[in-house]
Order: sequence, then structure tokens, then C-alpha cells
Amino acid sequence: MLNMKLVKSPRQMRRIGDELRQTGKKIGFVPTMGYLHDGHLSLIRSSASECDVTVVSIYVNPLQFGPGEDLQRYPRDLKRDLKLAAAAGADVVFAPSDKQMYPERMLSFIEVEKLPDYLCGVRRPGHFRGVTTVVGKLFNIVGPDRAYFGNKDYQQARVISRMVNDLNFPLKIRLLPTIREADGLAMSSRNAYLNEEERRQARVLIESLRLARRLIREGTRNSEKIKKVMGQLITTRKSAKIDYIQISDPLTLEPKTKVVGDVLVALAVFIGKTRLIDNLIVKGN
Ligand code: PAJ
Repeated sequence: MLNMKLVKSPRQMRRIGDELRQTGKKIGFVPTMGYLHDGHLSLIRSSASECDVTVVSIYVNPLQFGPGEDLQRYPRDLKRDLKLAAAAGADVVFAPSDKQMYPERMLSFIEVEKLPDYLCGVRRPGHFRGVTTVVGKLFNIVGPDRAYFGNKDYQQARVISRMVNDLNFPLKIRLLPTIREADGLAMSSRNAYLNEEERRQARVLIESLRLARRLIREGTRNSEKIKKVMGQLITTRKSAKIDYIQISDPLTLEPKTKVVGDVLVALAVFIGKTRLIDNLIVKGN
């Protein structure tokens, strides 16, 4: 949109949201950490097509990064993001500073239980508490009717959906498909960390997921067997180090020893120093 607005203060963002709601406008919201790619843009486009006004937040949330993670290094380019967001149909970009989001030490947090006990939650203690807390704050500041999330971060979407249901946030969550590069690699702001050779080897994430899907379609039911074959493929790439491979129930995220019904096949792999995640839902029979 030509007149896209950049808003930094939460108070001003609230005021804009209040005005829009009063005039009966349906607000779509796309929370991001910026360095936008086609995955983000697909969410913005969907919101723009389904809602009257689309708000995109760009905020690298310190609360969801653990010690030794990439908070400082995380790629940032607001100028570029503003152009991309506008072209995809955003009407407002909300990009607060750390001081504006966390003016004083936080004493209140949103914590979803159980769902973070698996997958990335195990490897990144406190991560999902940081995510739900900031997303809860953003929902309160923006006041959207719909919020858009990507399947790429499947566990995050499950955790946030649960928070919205449990705590009666007055909005609908829309979950959209993972957007991929031509060779299948899931788009991610963190792909920017990869050098050329690592970028080539990063393909092994989707290759191993597709291999799992093929094994399941051909009748393999033993999860350990499937994970083992995936692991064997991944370790043929010399910069790859497996963080986890899991076959889980798509709703509860609990590990499944046998493939019965639909399963979530999810993994996190370090390519060099860069931790990448991906997943596929494989339909059972
Ligand atoms: P970020 O990693 O920037 O992702 C923002 C949104 O874009 C998330 O809903 C994510 O699932 C979605 N997304 C990322 N890559 C995608 C892809 N390849 N295809 C489709 N959607 C994709 O996720 C976060 O930021 C943060 O945790 C946040 C929710 C903003 C809270 O800080």
C-alpha cells in the first residue's frame, strides 16, 4: 500500500487499533522478527486478501532467545522490510524498540504447559515462554481479529493456538503452509547465515523429511526405523549435526513410537553453526 504507516510506540499502535475497531474494520495481524522473505510475505498477502487492514510487527524479541543463541547476530534490515511489507499489502508496520516493549523488568509471563516439553522446547528452555509472552503483548497492543502464522514453526503455532483458546484471546489463528526455496529448503531469516557450501548441504532437511514420508507411504510404521534412516542420510553431509529428529502426534506433540494416523515428522539440524528447523505432516491411512 502506498500510505503504509510505520508505528514505533505501543500506545500509538493501540490508538490506531482502537480507531479501526470502532469503524468496524477487520484487522489482520502478522507478527514477525523481520528480515522478511516469501514465507512472511505469503502471510501478509493472505491477511491483506482476507482483512480490511493488515498490521505487521517487526520485533526481534530478546525474551525468546537463550544464552549463547543468535540474538545479537539476528539479521535486521528495517528499510528493506518496509518496502517488502508495503508491496505485499501491509497497511501498518509496528516496529517497537526494546525499551518500548520492555520498559521495566518483566514480572509477568504467559506460559503454556506441556506442549513445550517436546521438540524445540527441550533444546531451547524458556523459548516458548518468551514467544507466548511477546505474542500475548502484541495481541493486546494491536487487537487483531485474525493473526497469521506459518506451519514452518509448527510447534510455535500449536503453542500459540493453545494460549489463544485457554486464555480467551478474542481472535482467530490462521495457520498457513511453509514456503520453500526452489530446492525445497524452507525459507527462514536464518538461511542468511549459510555460506554457499552450507546452503547446498541445508537441502538435507527437506530431503530427509521427504524420505520419511516415502517410507511411511510404503508402509514403514516403526518410528525408530524411520528416524534412523533419516539420521543416516543427514550425517552424509559433513556440515550437518542433528539436534533432534522426532515423529509426534500433530496435536499433543507427544512422540509416537508407531506411525498410526497423521504424524508430525519434525527435525532441527545444525548446518555449521546455524540451527535450522523443518517439518512435514504425513497423512496416515
Ligand atoms: P519469524 O521467525 O520472523 O516468523 C514470523 C512468522 O512467519 C511465523 O508465523 C513463522 O512461522 C512464519 N514463517 C517463517 N518462515 C516461513 C516459511 N518459510 N513459510 C511460511 N511461514 C513462515 O516466528 C517468529 O518470527 C517469532 O517467534 C514471533 C512469532 C514473531 C514472536 O516473536
